[in-house]
Amino acid sequence: MIKVRLDKAHLEENILDYQESVDKAHNWLHEHNGKGSDFTGWVEWPVTYDKEEYARIKEVGKEIHENADVFLVCGIGGSYLGARSAIEFLQGLYSDRKPEIIFVGNTFSSTYISQVMKHIEGKSVYVDVISKSGTTTETSISFRLLKQYVEKHFPGEASKRIIATTDKHKGTLKALADKEGYREFVVPDNIGGRYSVFTAVGLLPIAAAGIDIDELMKGSFDAMNDLSVREIDKNPAYQYAVARRVLENSGKCAEMFVSYDLGTTMMAEWWKQLFGESEGKEGKGILPVSATFSTDLHSMGQFIQQGRKLLFETVLCVGKPIEDMVFPGDEENLDNMNYLAGKSIDWVNKMAMEGTIDAHVNTGNVPNILIELPDQTAYSYGYLIYFFFLACGVTCYMLDINPFNQPGVEVYKKNMFALLGKPE
Ligand code: PA5
Repeated sequence: MIKVRLDKAHLEENILDYQESVDKAHNWLHEHNGKGSDFTGWVEWPVTYDKEEYARIKEVGKEIHENADVFLVCGIGGSYLGARSAIEFLQGLYSDRKPEIIFVGNTFSSTYISQVMKHIEGKSVYVDVISKSGTTTETSISFRLLKQYVEKHFPGEASKRIIATTDKHKGTLKALADKEGYREFVVPDNIGGRYSVFTAVGLLPIAAAGIDIDELMKGSFDAMNDLSVREIDKNPAYQYAVARRVLENSGKCAEMFVSYDLGTTMMAEWWKQLFGESEGKEGKGILPVSATFSTDLHSMGQFIQQGRKLLFETVLCVGKPIEDMVFPGDEENLDNMNYLAGKSIDWVNKMAMEGTIDAHVNTGNVPNILIELPDQTAYSYGYLIYFFFLACGVTCYMLDINPFNQPGVEVYKKNMFALLGKPE
């Protein structure tokens, strides 16, 4: 399903020599006894997920899909990046999507928040507020505004139009949702934000967008089974996990996730969070950065080709795009573009990719990892996300890091709360 192609010329060590280290990481993950093991519920989630809740997600998702003009997904970090990445990857940026989906609660930008509040005036809105802790400030600010908006414009309908996705038992949002009688979904105790795409956190917005979440879950299930082998040569997730460490050992301190589709830009944001928050601690880790080509070849391409040799590229190559079209001929050919007449635009994109990889690897001396995915379907998305979860867990364990916490994120909050005068 997924193939990982390594640029062997730039790998200074044989990845198969890391089998012992991978075995250890594999066991820690699958036996749930490594660092942060309380948060490894995602490993078997494609079979252990709550079937009753899953049926409710589909029901409520359908209701939102059919009735909302605008669906506001209110959350930050792991509480929104997965859903947004899925929706844009699977539907593109300008599909005739209904309802319109707006992601809020992920910023303090007063302009963004004010403009969204004006934009929804007069429209039928549904809101999904998503927060595991239930206290995240960005999310709480936007949610209070939306709550008041719904109560004012849809009197008596708040319990229908507002859905809360939060901890099963505790937290401010849980208490508020109970009191207001909102429909509730659960962020499982044993799954952290950035590993939560296959829970209600990701699935409800994805279902509301009209995407087939059965297919997505099937992809995650097949990935869980296919990628459960411990041998590096049989497991593409482990090949990727080890190749990162080998490239780091040879002096590469940044990894650029590259895709060739603007609909994948948010997947890159999700990927950056997954690897950055999981790995960047104790003074260790590879800096995750991203670019969308060929767009960014006209901004970042120069640095990659000839700048400081600090990075390697991980390129996502998707076989079949969501849509394609044939480039037309023109009788006058004033733009001299007839040499491409009759070719598909995706073919041009693929040629750009081949030429760029060749330029970066062979002339620019930039190592490359190629991840090949057959198509842009819900099944493939589910498969790919599980692939990244697993690769991330293993590559972090190889560094002796807990991949499932994010203690460093608290520091800015402490300072901000002091400045905001938040009561203890
Ligand atoms: O991956 C994570 O755990 C974080 O990115 C959280 O998802 C993010 O900080 C939001 O937290 P919460 O869901 O508690 O509002």
